[in-house]
Amino acid sequence: MSASAQPSLRDEVGKAREMALGAIAGAADSMGLRKVAAELAHKQSALNAVRAQLGKIADASEKKLVGQALSEASGAIEQALAAREAELSAREFADQVARERMDLTEHLSAPQWGAAHIVTQATERLEDVFIGLGFQVAEGPEVETDFYNFEALNMPASHPARSEFDTMFIEPFSDDHEANTVLLRTHTSPVQIRVMQSWKPPIYAIMPGRVFRRDTPDATHMPVFHQIEGLVIDKGITFAHLAGIIEAFTKAFFGNDFTSRLRPSFFPFTEPSAEFDIRRANGSWIELGGCGMVHPNVLRAGGIDPEEYTGFAFGFGIDRMAKERHAVEDIREMYTNDLRFLRQFS
Ligand code: PHE
Repeated sequence: MSASAQPSLRDEVGKAREMALGAIAGAADSMGLRKVAAELAHKQSALNAVRAQLGKIADASEKKLVGQALSEASGAIEQALAAREAELSAREFADQVARERMDLTEHLSAPQWGAAHIVTQATERLEDVFIGLGFQVAEGPEVETDFYNFEALNMPASHPARSEFDTMFIEPFSDDHEANTVLLRTHTSPVQIRVMQSWKPPIYAIMPGRVFRRDTPDATHMPVFHQIEGLVIDKGITFAHLAGIIEAFTKAFFGNDFTSRLRPSFFPFTEPSAEFDIRRANGSWIELGGCGMVHPNVLRAGGIDPEEYTGFAFGFGIDRMAKERHAVEDIREMYTNDLRFLRQFS
């Protein structure tokens, strides 16, 4: 080997070292850097090629110098790899955090307020008026038994009036225990019985709530609708009290230019019974609901002695009142939940 050939191995080490450091600096991401590291470790890499020739160097001091250059180069490359790795992975982590960041700050534009549905508004106004007249508000279950919905209201099994209530049954009607048959209440009148059973007279109660009948929806009917029931039980209550309360309610709710009338009617749970209508200022009438003196059998079913107490009851549809008040043409519009319709009343 010529003397000039010896320093050229050291030059090769220097060149290989520069190339390696350049490749490390040029790696764009940690994946690229791993590829560079693998190439440098390969036994055919430029440095390893020099290392393979180390044994063939005859001159001991030159061999030592080349060896030193190799180990310095390896050290520098290792360091550069570690530094670049730290730099790239820190940047990649920061990028990932930025990418995955979720904006959990609140939306600070003006909140959108909802409003009570017109049937809820009507119910609340009705409650206010009756509370003003000295009534208390009560509620009962929507899923009832045959006993409360029919039997206790003086409609025993096979009573013809039952067929007027197109009942939705939860359980098939059972012949043995028909009083326990479970159904969706067809009116709020069963709450009369529950109030009589749990309160003591005097009772001045109103009972609003949802009721259910097997009806095909049309402009004036829905299978699910709302009623408000009234019940007064006290000593010496007469039909005149009933007429007086209906009139007081009419004026308080609709206004002083409205008046009420009662027409004879029939309900199994009241005797005598009447229907009541409200007269508008223009002379036209709105049919509102039913009422009457609580039947003695109903008082007994509620655990009240008909010799000691008498009372009256009334019931009418709330949806229809909301429909009248807001001149809604088709009652179904109130339940399609079209916000353009509902916002008119908020
Ligand atoms: N429950 C009757 C109905 O739904 C209304 C009513 C209530 C009649 C109270 C008289 C007394 O038609």
